[in-house]
Amino acid sequence: MQKKNSIIVKYTSNSLKDTLNIGKQLAKNLKPGAVISLTGPLGAGKTALVKGIAKGLRIKEEITSPTFTIISVYQGSLPLYHVDLYRIHEAAELCDIGLDEIMAGQGITAIEWPEKAINLLPEHTLAVTIRIQTDGTREIHIQGWTNEYISS
Ligand SMILES: Nc1ncnc2c1ncn2[C@@H]1O[C@H](COP(=O)(O)OP(=O)(O)OP(=O)(O)O)[C@@H](O)[C@H]1O
Ligand SMILES: [Mg+2]
Repeated sequence: MQKKNSIIVKYTSNSLKDTLNIGKQLAKNLKPGAVISLTGPLGAGKTALVKGIAKGLRIKEEITSPTFTIISVYQGSLPLYHVDLYRIHEAAELCDIGLDEIMAGQGITAIEWPEKAINLLPEHTLAVTIRIQTDGTREIHIQGWTNEYISS
């Protein structure tokens, strides 16, 4: 069995650009099937981090967050599934959108508002938490385990 090591990384992001770079660096360690949960309040920078991941996966298309789109897929060095569960109200809706199948696939899945799907997230999910500090900077924690989907 592969040896697992815990990962806890803490960053302070002083700007949108910092957050994009943190996402870009993170993307380098993601392998097919990786799932990243992004927790944080409105406007924390969850989508910004996904944009950085997209850069790291050499996705040329712009990552957007259209109001009623729950899942968007982008093609890069790996497919990126950008999932925003903000408008999900009950677990049954998660079946309708096929989140299980997406997470079991060979792409990278990045999920905003993962609280809405907490029981569905695989054990290998890498948890990213973003806090807005009083001075407006963002504290970004990345926590999980190295495994076949995520390297250190
Ligand atoms: N350090 C920072 N990192 C990321 N974004 C920042 C930072 N400082 C300021 N911002 C601004 O905060 C906003 C973050 O927006 P973003 O859409 O990424 O948030 P979100 O967490 O996805 O919000 P939502 O819950 O509405 O989806 C942007 O307007 C960005 O310019
Ligand atoms: Mg967002």
